[in-house]
Amino acid sequence: MWLLSCLRQYLHQLCYHSPDLKDLHTQQPEELRFDSCLLHQGPDQMAGLFSKQAAAYAAARPVYPKDLFTKLAALTAHHCLAWDVGTGNGQAAIGVAEHYDSVLATDVSEEQLLHAVPHPKVRYLHTPNATPGEDLVTTLGGEQSVDLITVAEAVHWCDLPAFYDIARRVLRRPGGVIAVWGYNYHISPVEDMMTRFFNTTLPYWDTRARYCMNRYKDLPFPFDDIGLGREGEPVSLDVDHEMSFEGLIGMLRSWSAVTMAKQQGVDLLGERMVKELEEEWGGASLVRKVTFKAFLLAGTPRADD
Ligand SMILES: C[S@@+](CC[C@H](N)C(=O)[O-])C[C@H]1O[C@@H](n2cnc3c(N)ncnc32)[C@H](O)[C@@H]1O
Repeated sequence: MWLLSCLRQYLHQLCYHSPDLKDLHTQQPEELRFDSCLLHQGPDQMAGLFSKQAAAYAAARPVYPKDLFTKLAALTAHHCLAWDVGTGNGQAAIGVAEHYDSVLATDVSEEQLLHAVPHPKVRYLHTPNATPGEDLVTTLGGEQSVDLITVAEAVHWCDLPAFYDIARRVLRRPGGVIAVWGYNYHISPVEDMMTRFFNTTLPYWDTRARYCMNRYKDLPFPFDDIGLGREGEPVSLDVDHEMSFEGLIGMLRSWSAVTMAKQQGVDLLGERMVKELEEEWGGASLVRKVTFKAFLLAGTPRADD
C-alpha cells in the first residue's frame, strides 16, 4: 500500500516536470487556482503586500534551523511528498527537501516565488486565486498523498477552516503531520528596540496578523497532539540569525505593515527612525547574533475528522 502510494507520488512528480507543465524558474508559472487560503481582502491585494517587497524579503528573512526539519521528518511515517504552504522564497521548503523525495511549494505571490531558491526536489507553484479545493487535492496527488505540510510564518494569512479542510484531506493517515510556525518582533537581544518600532506599525497590520503577534496562542489548530505543541500551547522555537544593520532595516521593510503604511503614504522607516534604530542597534557596521523567538504547533489529523 505504502509502495503504491510512493509510486503514485513518483509518477505525479514526473508529470510535474513534463515539458508541457510550467516551472517557475524557467517558464511562466502555471496559474493554479484554489481555495485553501481564501483571502479576506482579496488575494491580489494580499499577494501585493508580499510582492512589493519580495526582493527585500529574500535577502532579509531568517533561515530555519536544520534540526527543526530533522525533528519534523522523524514525526512522519513516510517521506514521499511534503507541501510547503505560503512558501515565500522557499525558506522552509529547502529545509524540508533534505528529508522528502519531493516538495510542492505554493504561494499566492508570484513575485515571492520568482525570488525563490531553486532546488531539484522543490517545485514552486503559483496559486493566486480561489478555485475548488478539489483542484488542489488533485494537484497534490489525491487524498492522503502528503506526508508533511509546513506553513512557516504564513498560516495566519489563510482562511483557516478552508485550509485545514484540505490539509485533513491530503495528509496521509496514519502518519501525516502538519506543522505551522511563526515569529514576530520578539528578537533577542534587541527586544526593547523591536517593541518600540513595532508599536509604530500597530495601525497598519491586517487583523489576521494578530495571531502571529499573539504567538499563535489563540490560533485554531484542530489536529491531534503529537508532542510538539498543541492548540493553545505552542512550543518555543529559537531561530538564530546573524544580522547586519542593513539586514535589520531590510527585514523591517519586508513587514507587510510597513508596506501597507507606505501604500497609505506613511514611511515608517524614514531617515529619523533609521537613525534612532542605528543608535540602538550599536552602529551601522555592527553585525549581531540575534535569535527570533519563534513558536510552533504540530499535529496529525483526528481519527474522526
Ligand atoms: C511572511 S511570508 C512567509 C514566507 C516563508 N514561508 C518564510 O517562512 O519566510 C508569508 C507568505 O505567505 C504568502 N501568503 C499570504 N497569504 C497566503 C495565502 N492565503 N495562501 C498562500 N500563501 C499566502 C505570502 O505571499 C508570503 O510569501
